[in-house]
Amino acid sequence: MFSNTPPHFIRRFIPFIFTFAPLFNVSAADEPIPDHLVELAWAYAISTEKPPPLPEDTLKHSLPDTPLTFTREEITGKRNGVAFQDAPADWYPGDHPEMPEIYAKGDPSRNIIACALCHYPNGKGKAENAPPAGQDKRYLLQQLLDFKNDNRNGAEPRKSNYQLMVDTAKGMTLEEMEAVSAYMGSMPWTQWIQVIETDTVPKTYLRGGLHIAIEGEGAGTEPIGKRIIETPVDSYRTEFLRDPRSGFIAYVPPGSIQQGAELVYTGGNGKTLQCIICHGADLNGIGNIPGIASRSPSYMARQLNDMKQRTRNGEMAALMHPVVQNLSSEDILNIVAYLTSIPAPAPNYDPFKH
Ligand code: HEC
Ligand code: HEC
Repeated sequence: MFSNTPPHFIRRFIPFIFTFAPLFNVSAADEPIPDHLVELAWAYAISTEKPPPLPEDTLKHSLPDTPLTFTREEITGKRNGVAFQDAPADWYPGDHPEMPEIYAKGDPSRNIIACALCHYPNGKGKAENAPPAGQDKRYLLQQLLDFKNDNRNGAEPRKSNYQLMVDTAKGMTLEEMEAVSAYMGSMPWTQWIQVIETDTVPKTYLRGGLHIAIEGEGAGTEPIGKRIIETPVDSYRTEFLRDPRSGFIAYVPPGSIQQGAELVYTGGNGKTLQCIICHGADLNGIGNIPGIASRSPSYMARQLNDMKQRTRNGEMAALMHPVVQNLSSEDILNIVAYLTSIPAPAPNYDPFKH
């Protein structure tokens, strides 16, 4: 297609830019980080310092309301210390239909990692990945094809889990993509993130693309600034046990929800388009257009910026280009603060129990 010419053209030249970089005495480390990645650093959550290691052990661990117990290796799907080999723990099999085998286990021989590891068996996902549950299956299939065909990538090249998603999609057959899309789409989206408007936030550090509240030495609060800080309600449950019933808190700046609502419903005097035209009156999606209410603000901010930077460039993303082209990073923050604050139906457990 004609409109695909510029990106392919540019991509062909990327290797040359890197090859010749030393001639001009520019190394990747010296490259200034573009403004949008500095302003939206909270959404991409790239750690430049090595976080403290998780305390590992070989004990069987448990969670409330399930008879199942798992070791850390079983929780993470490791085998003899090697990641991405086995199905990760499925703590609450009654919370979801039977998973397609590829969703539960992946296939190491084709570099396909178990979807359940990053998106959880229930498709709720963590802030650094994505929340596919409850989206239309045609939309989900299109996204997997976009990853596979290099039409969807992140604007932040240092976000390493992105490549794992792309490699996973590249290994899959069309039949597998259809099966997992139907599976993810069959589960309803329910409340997962609690939004709190506030001036101050707990001090956090970054691990694997997640903001984790500092406990003990170094703990305290700091001004929120122009950031959203999305952090597990209970970091031990999320990080160590990977509890798919334990949700997130999103701290957002004062006034952001109201300013975001204005852009979402009015389009801000032509700055953007009214989201309800395509995403439905309740913003839960129509037809093959995805729902955007009540989902991870970090994830959604990355999408709006990735589409603005044109690294998310599938056929359907073209409809979003006029929406995002004039949005500032602060507009993006305000919009996602509002979208996440829209309540979703409650699940049959309390995602905010500490
Ligand atoms: C290593 C972690 C990881 C694994 C394993 C993984 N994903 Fe993903 N997935 C991601 C990331 C990261 C994104 C994109 C996040 C972003 O854009 O910021 C993503 C996005 C998606 C999306 C897009 C959601 C949307 O709303 O547009 C779908 C669909 C998806 N993944 C399906 C799958 C399926 C199916 C599997 C298994 C076959 C899988 N993923 C395995 C990390 C993972
Ligand atoms: C003209 C139709 C249209 C309008 C108006 C529109 N969108 Fe979209 N939006 C889409 C389509 C189509 C997609 C799917 C893009 C793709 O497949 O890559 C999408 C995707 C998205 C996504 C990514 C969802 C995900 O799970 O990855 C977000 C976030 C989003 N839109 C936010 C908004 C916001 C906020 C507004 C209003 C300011 C808006 N959209 C207005 C059509 C529209």
